[in-house]
Amino acid sequence: MQALQDKASEWSGVPTSDAFAVDDSNLFHKLGLQSFVNLSTNFYNSRVYDDEEEWFRSIFANSKKEDAIQNQYEFLAQRMGGPPLYSQRRGHPALIARHGPFAVTREAAERWLHHMEQAMNSTREIDEESRIKIMNFLRHTAYFLVAGVGELKNQNQEMHPCRHGAGAHHPC
Ligand code: HEM
Repeated sequence: MQALQDKASEWSGVPTSDAFAVDDSNLFHKLGLQSFVNLSTNFYNSRVYDDEEEWFRSIFANSKKEDAIQNQYEFLAQRMGGPPLYSQRRGHPALIARHGPFAVTREAAERWLHHMEQAMNSTREIDEESRIKIMNFLRHTAYFLVAGVGELKNQNQEMHPCRHGAGAHHPC
C-alpha cells in the first residue's frame, strides 16, 4: 500500500501531506451535505455523462447516472468527516477493487479531474480553501487508483495467462 501511495504522490505531483490535509478539519461540517450533492450532480449530470470525448463517456455507460451521483456524494460526504452514508448502503469503499473493471489510465484520471475541477468551480457553496484541499485529495486518489488498478490487472494477467488465443505469455 505504501508503494501505491508513493506512486500516487509522484504521478499526481501532490505530496501525501497535502492529499490528507482534508483530515485536519471537518469539511463536512463546514460545507454540509447539500454542497456534496450539488458537486456530484454537477460533475456527472452536466459533465461526465455529456462528455464530448466518447472514450471517457463510455467508461460510465453501464452505470445509471442517478446511482453514480448518489455513490459519489455519499462517499465524499463520508470521507470529508460526515456520517457513514456510503458504507451503510454499499459496504467498505474498496476503491481499487471497485474500479477494477474500468480503464483507469492516466488519461482517464486527467479527464476525470478536469471535469471535477470544473464542477468544483461552479459549486459556489464550496469556498476556495476547501476546494484546494478537496482537489489535492482527489488528484492524489485518482493516481492512487491508476497505480492500484494497474497492479490489479498485472496480477490478473500473471494468474490467468491466455492459453486459448495469444499464448501463455500474452494477455488475452
Ligand atoms: C464509481 C470511474 C476516480 C470514487 C465509479 C464508476 C466509474 C468510475 C465508471 C462507476 C459509477 C458508479 O456506479 O458509481 C472512475 C475513473 C476515475 C475515478 C475513470 C479516474 C481516476 C475516482 C476517485 C474517487 C472515486 C478519485 C474518490 C476519491 C468512486 C466511488 C464510486 C466510483 C466511491 C462508487 C463505487 C460503488 O459504490 O460501486 N468510478 N473513477 N473515483 N468512484 Fe470512481
